[in-house]
Amino acid sequence: MAAKTALITGVAGQDGGHLAKLLHEKGYEVYGTLRGQLEASHPRYQAVKTEMPYVNIVLADMMDIAALTRAMQEIKPDEVYNLAAISHVGYSFRDPILTADLTGKGVLNVLEAVRLAGLEKTTRFYQASTSEMFGGLDYNRPGSGYDEESLFHPRSPYGVAKLYGHWITKNYRESYGMHASCGILFNHEGERRGPEFVTRKISKAVARIKLGKQDVLELGNLDSKRDWGYAGDYVEGMWRILQQDEPGDYVLATGETHTIREFVELAFKQVGIELRWDGTGESETATDVASGNVVLRINPEFYRPAEVDILLGDPAKAETKLGWERKVDFPGLVKLMVEHDLAEEA
Ligand code: GDD
Repeated sequence: MAAKTALITGVAGQDGGHLAKLLHEKGYEVYGTLRGQLEASHPRYQAVKTEMPYVNIVLADMMDIAALTRAMQEIKPDEVYNLAAISHVGYSFRDPILTADLTGKGVLNVLEAVRLAGLEKTTRFYQASTSEMFGGLDYNRPGSGYDEESLFHPRSPYGVAKLYGHWITKNYRESYGMHASCGILFNHEGERRGPEFVTRKISKAVARIKLGKQDVLELGNLDSKRDWGYAGDYVEGMWRILQQDEPGDYVLATGETHTIREFVELAFKQVGIELRWDGTGESETATDVASGNVVLRINPEFYRPAEVDILLGDPAKAETKLGWERKVDFPGLVKLMVEHDLAEEA
């Protein structure tokens, strides 16, 4: 049988890298989009070429329906994984219009490109939906967490844009019979995470502080809670979603939630630093008990205009129907990230 072909939008992102590797290992011919203006000499282009030589790079901007349609016509992918987006929640408050265009309408552009290429009956489509669509306000299921039936209440321009992407994907499933599915993924992290996200910001800073290359880590809200898993486990879930006979929506989560403060504490512990917490709110600090140095303080610049206080997911459907399971638990995730950054910073 001929190898399957997959097209990943946003292949240069955290999940794009994990997924491209997984699909390559499964024998797929893998194509990945990069923004149109990224020429072969661009560092991002070079990084993909070097790290993932098996990826066929396609230059196609999410806003350029002609380029996306051309890509579909030429590649005729069996599976499309739509991962491209502005994905930083904090940033989406600063650039809400670009976020709506890319993270929201960009999904429609890719779906339309599939249809314009006449592939809606043959190409399977995965949309990267997110737990940010729930928003933490309608949290009324203590113990079990959000599932596929929970109410949405997004709390950021990013969450609102993702909700559009979610519903337009369902609409194309219902209107055109497309095998179009949504993975509602809770936070997933790891060594490929961008340093602007809180877990990687912490693991990098902890490594640098341990190595004497940085004094203090500045963070915003330490009280929010997240359901954190390992990105490598989650891309396996994405693939499984597209292997089902029927399209559908699936929550991928761990079923555990932890505060940012807990992540910080565990990360410092990983390098042998015990913390003492003092003060509250903007005056809160953490001190290295052994050295007496303040190693963490609050910078309100990192607060968000509206916050998602708690995310906790219930992955029962994915576990039962997809046979999806996670290999990395919360302490394992913190350890993996800190160890990686210690090696990288050394
Ligand atoms: N980024 C960041 N930087 N977040 C901070 C900081 C900081 O200095 N200090 C505290 N936080 C808090 C945020 O306020 C938020 O409550 C939490 O840490 C997690 O922030 P992020 O790591 O930026 O992730 P996120 O939960 O907002 O969004 C991520 O997960 C979503 C899935 O639930 C992103 O990956 C989204 O793209 C994804 O959809």
